[in-house]
Amino acid sequence: MHKTELIAALDTDTLKAAEHLLDKLEGRVKFFKVGSVLFTAAGPAAVDLVHKRGGRVFLDLKFYDIPNTVKHAVKHAGAMGVYSVSLHLSGGNEMLRACAELDKRPKLWGITVLTSFDEYGLFRSGYRCGIDKTVRNLAAHGAANGADGVVCSPLEAAMLRKIHDGKLKLVTPGIRPEARGDDQKRAVTPAAAREAGADFIVVGRPITAAADPAAAAAAILEDLK
Ligand code: C5P
Repeated sequence: MHKTELIAALDTDTLKAAEHLLDKLEGRVKFFKVGSVLFTAAGPAAVDLVHKRGGRVFLDLKFYDIPNTVKHAVKHAGAMGVYSVSLHLSGGNEMLRACAELDKRPKLWGITVLTSFDEYGLFRSGYRCGIDKTVRNLAAHGAANGADGVVCSPLEAAMLRKIHDGKLKLVTPGIRPEARGDDQKRAVTPAAAREAGADFIVVGRPITAAADPAAAAAAILEDLK
């Protein structure tokens, strides 16, 4: 069976708190997500911090803008040496292709439908095809225009693996070892995500909010075996 990597989300408000978390996860976790929370608070120093500790960075800024703007943002992310960046697949073919054509670039992971959406929420946002079909359509557009992977819920991972096996990495947030009753509506356990075919799982609060983040990460890694 293929390997599923853990990406720990460094969703902390300060660089110091991120450093504290890295201290606890060092040696266990190789990939770290720097997203809009930490990047807005601390900027590129957050990326440097992970790199200095030998980790790899998924820069999750979920770009969505005109092609020229996103292309330049992705170029700067590439210069920082991040492993991957996220961009919304709903940003369109030209936006994605402009990024895919860059010489030196990180992996492009396209957001399909956020894991915080349920069917009703997606409908209210103006999408009329339902979650599965919207995810399928956006992933097909990603595959055709240069995305290296797509971000989806583990609930759609098995479907996408059948269609795009080997061509698109599947990155799945919405991981809950135990139910938390929070904003993640389409969530499953780490083992279920692995079985569905996820290449990477992105885990935030089950690690960051745990009394013992190292033990929480260890339990998740055990569940992924
Ligand atoms: O705390 P939690 O485990 O919900 O964190 C999940 C992380 O994955 C958050 O940093 C969130 O921004 C990110 N993410 C997500 N859904 C996506 C893409 C990224 O939840 N589609």
